[in-house]
Amino acid sequence: MFYSAIRKVLFKFDPEAIHELTIKGFKASGSTPLNLLYKQNITDKPVEAMGITFPNPVGLAAGLDKNGECINAFAAMGFGFVEIGTVTPKPQPGNPKPRIFRLPSANAVINRMGFNNKGVDYLIDQVRKANFKGVLGINIGKNKDTPDEHAKDDYLICMRKVYNYATYITINISSPNTPGLRSLQYGDALNELLAVLKAEQKVLTKQHSKYVPLAVKIAPDLSKEEIESIAQCLISNDIDGVIATNTTLSREGVVGLEHGEEQGGLSGEPVKDKSTEVIRLLAIALDNKLPIIGVGGISSGRDAQEKIAAGAKLVQVYTGFIYQGPELVKDIVNTL
Ligand SMILES: Cc1cc2nc3c(=O)[nH]c(=O)nc-3n(C[C@H](O)[C@H](O)[C@H](O)COP(=O)(O)O)c2cc1C
Repeated sequence: MFYSAIRKVLFKFDPEAIHELTIKGFKASGSTPLNLLYKQNITDKPVEAMGITFPNPVGLAAGLDKNGECINAFAAMGFGFVEIGTVTPKPQPGNPKPRIFRLPSANAVINRMGFNNKGVDYLIDQVRKANFKGVLGINIGKNKDTPDEHAKDDYLICMRKVYNYATYITINISSPNTPGLRSLQYGDALNELLAVLKAEQKVLTKQHSKYVPLAVKIAPDLSKEEIESIAQCLISNDIDGVIATNTTLSREGVVGLEHGEEQGGLSGEPVKDKSTEVIRLLAIALDNKLPIIGVGGISSGRDAQEKIAAGAKLVQVYTGFIYQGPELVKDIVNTL
């Protein structure tokens, strides 16, 4: 009720301007008594996955807190885990604005942000300052001006830098807004990338005397055969988890709506079933060998239940959170 009144006002303004304003507000208030404005007490519902104990199965999906500036604010809202990033080795501005669009009648968003972020060193600084003791995922990617054949170097740079600060690391190969990135999901390119990162994980485990699991985040726009082939590659490279899914290039569910033709990734309700289907096929192909984090169009406890029923162990939210506010976390945890 409270958030729906706030949302009415927020939705009158440009989406990115509101995003920046809320990030500033959360950054300033996250570790202060002002966080009482959004703090929630959530019942513990622990889940074990990737060797980590998650206090509850509802996480914040990557992309909302790209620079890790609001970790304590999201923790105060009761998220069982917070995933920050996508971060790249160097800061980069992302695509020209406008680059994020609301489609309220479809409970959806289209974005083509293009990994706008302040770079991995800034993010680490924020993580240090947050001194957060909960489960923190750090999602890493490549800079736009890094040629595809050197993509692995960018992942390696980020992985080495964030290793000591992350509870798990997400390899993002599924954003539609960085040209060439999604091609890393297929065949030899995927196998080579994962082999290199897995080998580096071994080195870093020794160096830091701690094992930080690696999760791979995939797109919803994959055929059954492609999903099966990715699953085999994840298993053979001993990857620790998989996040399904990122945003979709499909425009099913938004054709004819204002902004429905904008370029970028579509998220929210229109991606829900697509993402659930990917999870269902992945779960069959993975045969419980690694856990799935389900994300895409979750805007209620029931939506989250569908993801769990399809084979996910944990869930994440982004667009549903924009539309429903922090209460969504409580709703989902109470339903599950
Ligand atoms: C504005 C926006 C920015 C996003 N940025 C990222 C990102 O940087 N990295 C990433 O892995 N996913 C990113 N995502 C994808 C979300 O994490 C999520 O996978 C996707 O939106 C589907 O979930 P949802 O329907 O709950 O939003 C972004 C999504 C949105 C809407």
